[in-house]
This record gives sequence, C-alpha cells and structure tokens, in this order.
Amino acid sequence: MSTTIQKSDHDIDETVTRLASLKPFGRLDRVGAAPRGKEASWIDSLPESSRIRLEKYGIDLSQGYPLVPDSSEIPTFVDEAFEIRNKEYPYIERAKNADPEKKALFGAAKEVKDLTAHIGTEIVGLQLSDLTDQQKDELALLIAERVVVFFRDQDLSPQKQLELGKYFGQVEIHPQAARVPNTVDGQDIKGISVIWQEYQRQRSGLRLTYKNSINGNSQWHTDLVHEYQPAGITHLHNDAIPSVGGDTLWASGYAAYDKLSPAIQQFLDGKTAIYRSAHPYVDRQSPLSGPKFIEREHPIIRTHPATGWKSLFVNRAMTVKIVGLKKEESDILLEYLFGVFEKHVDIQVRFNWQPTKEGLGTSALWDNRISQHNAVWDHEGKQARHGTRVTSLAEVPFFDPKSKSQRESLGLSLD
Ligand SMILES: [Fe+2]
Repeated sequence: MSTTIQKSDHDIDETVTRLASLKPFGRLDRVGAAPRGKEASWIDSLPESSRIRLEKYGIDLSQGYPLVPDSSEIPTFVDEAFEIRNKEYPYIERAKNADPEKKALFGAAKEVKDLTAHIGTEIVGLQLSDLTDQQKDELALLIAERVVVFFRDQDLSPQKQLELGKYFGQVEIHPQAARVPNTVDGQDIKGISVIWQEYQRQRSGLRLTYKNSINGNSQWHTDLVHEYQPAGITHLHNDAIPSVGGDTLWASGYAAYDKLSPAIQQFLDGKTAIYRSAHPYVDRQSPLSGPKFIEREHPIIRTHPATGWKSLFVNRAMTVKIVGLKKEESDILLEYLFGVFEKHVDIQVRFNWQPTKEGLGTSALWDNRISQHNAVWDHEGKQARHGTRVTSLAEVPFFDPKSKSQRESLGLSLD
C-alpha cells in the first residue's frame, strides 16, 4: 500500500517537473516563452558600432550573441528563484568615503553640468575607465545626491564596466536575461546584461508597438526591487544609439517624497510594501496556476545610507501592495504615489544619449534606491539601440526614523 502511495507521489513530482519544463519564462508582457541558449542568428543584426566595441575588447561572438542562459541553468520554481542571494552579504557604501566637495572628480572634469534643478548631472571630459578609487567614491556620492549621472564619448570595455560595477557592490547576475558571453580569454565576466530593445521585442515577443509603447523597460520602473538587497547603482552603457529619439527618463524618489503632504509622509514613514520581480517562475504547489513572481517586503520610505535623505520607494511595474492596508486602500494610495513620479515633470530628467563621438558610447549611472526610469520607444526599432548593463546591488533597505527629506536637509522651502 505504502509503495503505491510513494509511486503516486513520485508520479506527481514527475508531472510537476514535466509541466514546469514547459518553461513559462520571460516576462508576462511578452508573447510566448523566450528562447534559450546561444543566439547565433542575431549576430547579423548586432549594430556595427556594438560589434566593433565588443570585438575590440576580445568578446568572442563566434558562438552567438547575446548569450541567453540555458533553461537547465534557470530556476524553475519561484521558491528556488527566491533563494538566490536570499541572505545578507557585506555592502560597502562607497559614497560614505567621499570628499563632499568632490574635488578629485570635478577637478579632473572639463565641465560638470546639472541638467535640471532636482535630478541629473552630466560630466564632460572624463573617461570612466580611468577613474581613480577616490574619483569613484566621489562619483558614488554625486549619484546619491543627483540620482543619475551621465558621461558621453566613452571608450569603455565591458570588462571595465564590470570592474567599476564590482567596486560599487556585488554585481547582479540575472538568471534569465540575455547577457554578454560569460568569459573573455578564460576570464569570468558574468554580470553584464544586454539591453537591446529590438532583440527583446522580436525574439522574446515583447509587445511593443507604436500604439502600445508602454511596456517592458518603456514604462516607469525600478530595476531589481525583489532582491533581498535590491539594486543600488546601475550603469547602462549604450554603444548603439538612434540618431533621433530613444531617450530615457528618470524621476527622483527624494523629490517625490518631498511632494507629499506632511500627513501622508508621516503615514508612510516606517511602513513596508511588497515588491515583485519582472520575470515569472512556477508555483511548486500549484504549477498550473500560471506564472508566479518573486515577492519581497521592503520599507516604502527608504533612507539613503550616504545622503541620509528619505526616498519614496515605489514603482507602478513592481510595487504590489502596502503592508497593513486593505487591498482597495493600498490600490488607491499606490496609484496616487505612482502618479507623483509620473506626473511631476519638475522631478524628472529626460536624456538623449546623442551626441556621442563616432566609435564611442554614452553611459548613464543611476541609483535605483532613489529613482524610477523609463526608456522611450519612439525610434520604433528603426534604428538600433543596444547597450550593456551592470547593476551593483546595495544594502538591505532600511528606514531611519531620524532621517530627513532632501529639502528639509538642504534647508529648502517645504511648501
Ligand atoms: Fe530598467
């Protein structure tokens, strides 16, 4: 009798595994499952400027590009995916070591331009690959203060981009997303994601058209909020940029917090919310119930460890619910909070990645702890937009009740 039951259990397990092998990977905003393995057929579509950059720095494209993790390497069940990096690991906040005046960084730059009053600064005349550790610390502080920092005309290898990312924190290795091949000259370079909208649209079935231009990374979102220690600095280096359009917008979480009334600020201070992953997995208990996301709880108001300023940590794509509220209450309040980022153009910066000198690329480094971003799909894939992205994970999110808002700290009007 017991043998029969064991066999039955085994059969169920096998069935679950077989169902799971149908691989509902990719994203819900895509049609069908994403392909896995090496993408030999996409080599011919790789923009010339991207190919030249990758080959210049020894990236082997002969096996195909981009590399998509094989399905055998991807966790099937959401509980397995949840366990990835599901424990605290050391994080060094580089911005805390920095000279508040940033003399080493600013002194070496030709020009430092604030692009708007509240968010976004461009540094002219510096190569990211040449920065000293002192300058990197100051850059980390500048990003913490200005939310996003831009560098045009960069000659940057993927390896150097990865090295800079590792300086800022543990580099995220995405279990599903397309990436640059894992090694170069035998050296491990895992952790460089490929951001190539046309590839993602066509190959993975991302529903992104002129009439439906809000999807994928073309909607307001924050990267990797479901991690135990979510994303800190993300560095996107675009090596193929449309001649017109393909802009990216960022909005400041510090400024969003300062837009709220004192009553709502007080209500949200100390509360937490549930954040989900962009990519789905399978529910082990209920494999037929459809895709399931990794979900994690974090403070909805975060204190940035370097500036000490409070930031509103929500985004429409991945913040599911405010803990402690009824769903209807949470939905209404979250809708309002998403709108604070999306509607206030004075707390946004819109950046055009051109001009950048031929053969060179443009880099943006932003802090996901204090921002949302949105890539504009106006080029409609007619001109290529390709880049490499390295994300440094930061601290376990926290709220310090003694921390201040940015405007309070800077002595600016709170009206
Ligand atoms: Fe993103």
